Order: sequence, then C-alpha cells, then structure tokens
Amino acid sequence: MPYEIDIDPAWGAAIDRIIAAGAPEQGLLNENCLQRSSSLIQILEQTQKEIGYLPENVQAYLANKLHIPLSEIYGVTTFYALFNTEPVGKHTISVCMGTACYVKGAGEIVAEFERRLNIEAGQTTLDGLFTLEPCRCLGACGLAPVLTIGDQVYGRLTPADVPDLIEKYYLPTKGEST
Ligand code: FES
Repeated sequence: MPYEIDIDPAWGAAIDRIIAAGAPEQGLLNENCLQRSSSLIQILEQTQKEIGYLPENVQAYLANKLHIPLSEIYGVTTFYALFNTEPVGKHTISVCMGTACYVKGAGEIVAEFERRLNIEAGQTTLDGLFTLEPCRCLGACGLAPVLTIGDQVYGRLTPADVPDLIEKYYLPTKGEST
C-alpha cells in the first residue's frame, strides 16, 4: 500500500517522471531477478543524475513507488560505489591510491588537497564545489600519480600542482550568476 514520504516536491516529480519513463506500471515486483536488478540500477542512476545523490527519503520514495522493499534499494546503493547517499560537490576529485600512484606520492597529494580545501578525504567543501575521494587504480599507472576531476585525467602530479588544479575549477564559478 503506497504511503506518504516527506520529500521535496520537485524531487518527487522528477522521480515520478523517471519511473513513468522506465518502469512497468506494477512497479518492479513482477520482473525476474535479473531484469529487476538492471531496471532498479537504471532508475537509481537516473535519479542520482537528476538530484545529485540518493538520500534516505529518496530511497524510501522510490521503494514506495516501485513497490519493492526499501532494504532492496539500500542494498544496491551501498553495494555500488557509483551511488552517493551523501551530497557530493560540483567537482569530484578522485585521487588514485593504487600501488603505482601510492609509491609516487599520491598520499602527499591527498594531504595537500585536504590542507588547501580544509576538508578530509571523503568530504565535500562547504561551498559544495569539491568532493575529495581517494580511489582505486584508474588504469593510467604510467602517468602516476594520477587523479581525475570529473572526466579530466591529470598525471605525473606533485603537491605543488594542487593549487593550480583547485584554481582551474574554482575560477569559472566566480562569474556565474546562479
Ligand atoms: S595505480 Fe594509479 S592509475 Fe594505476
């Protein structure tokens, strides 16, 4: 039986549109296990793209609308690294902590970002601009140490490169009129 979830109406409307476009009328319960899992991941991806992250009330809203247990959604959002249950910054700085990058100083690069952005790894800056995330091998070990900011890859870095990287992504926002 559907029930009311306390959620931003704009978020609810966005989720309703996503479900209407992709899920069968009866929700996901009637799909087989594989279809259901694939459909759920697609809906969660689209919802995260729209809202930015998947907080608990959004997961509850989805569970209600899709007629599936909240625990099933929670299981997916906590299993897959691509899903964020906390707000993330406009730019995610993913610093590779794989072996090649680690031995070439990735730890010092993370520490420099932490110092300059005044956050710890895993956190988001107060202005919502940056999230700092150590990650596994990015597959560009020849460029170690490597990081990505959004889709852009930066390699052979030293802590001295950190201020310029921050400035590069900070500057364009100064002229924005949001
Ligand atoms: S170890 Fe960093 S890219 Fe592979």
